[in-house]
Amino acid sequence: MQPIPVKSMKPWFQTIEDVGPKLVWSQFFTAEQPVEIDIGSGRGLFLLNAALQHPERNFAGLEIDYREGRRAAERLQKRELGNARVIGGDANKVLAEMIDPGSVDAAHVYFPDPWWKTRHHKRRIFNSDFLLKLARVIRTGGHLHHWTDVADYFVMVRGLMEHSADFRLCPVPDEREAENDMDYQTSFERKKRKLGFPIYRAMWQRV
Ligand SMILES: C[S@@+](CC[C@H](N)C(=O)[O-])C[C@H]1O[C@@H](n2cnc3c(N)ncnc32)[C@H](O)[C@@H]1O
Repeated sequence: MQPIPVKSMKPWFQTIEDVGPKLVWSQFFTAEQPVEIDIGSGRGLFLLNAALQHPERNFAGLEIDYREGRRAAERLQKRELGNARVIGGDANKVLAEMIDPGSVDAAHVYFPDPWWKTRHHKRRIFNSDFLLKLARVIRTGGHLHHWTDVADYFVMVRGLMEHSADFRLCPVPDEREAENDMDYQTSFERKKRKLGFPIYRAMWQRV
C-alpha cells in the first residue's frame, strides 16, 4: 500500500529531524530579531496573536503532537507570517540539544498537561531538570511566563522557582476581560476561563 502523502508545511511546520541537529535562529525566520519560544504550543493561538502583535520579534512553538502542531502552523501559513514557526517534537530534546545557550529572549509555558493522577505527576513537563534547560537557553534579563488552571501544579512550579538561583519573580499582569474569542493568551485559557476556572499566572526574569 502506498503511504498517504503529507502536505509539506515548511517552513511553518518542521519536525526536529527537518530542522537538523542545531536550531540556527538566523536561518529559521525571515528576519534576525529576538526569539521567544512557546513550549507545548497546541493550536497556536498564542503564536498567532503574538506574531501579529509583535512583528519585531520571532516566535517558535515546540509541540510534540504533530496534528496540533500542523493545525497551529496552518494558521501561521495562511497569513504568510515570517516571524512564527512550529517545530514538531519533544521540547525537552529541543531545549537540551538544539538551542544555543542564551539565545532565547522569553519562554512561555501555558497550561502544560496536568497529569492529574498523583502517580503520573512525574510525567509533568515542568520539573527541576526542565528548569535547568530553560535557564540554559534564556538570556540574562530574559523572561519565563507560566500560566495554568491547575492549582497544585502551580504551587509545585512556584516552589521550584523559589529555590532557583537563576530566576527572580516579577509582578504578574492582572487578568483582563477578553474583547472577543481570539483575545485570549491561548486556547486553553479561553476554555478554562469560559468554564469559570481561576487562572494562575507567574513571570520570572533570568538573572
Ligand atoms: C494542555 S495543552 C496546552 C496547549 C497550549 N499551550 C494552550 O494553552 O492552549 C499541552 C500541550 O503540550 C504539548 N506537550 C506535552 N508534552 C510536550 C513535550 N514534551 N514537548 C512539546 N510539547 C508537549 C501537548 O501535546 C499539548 O499540545
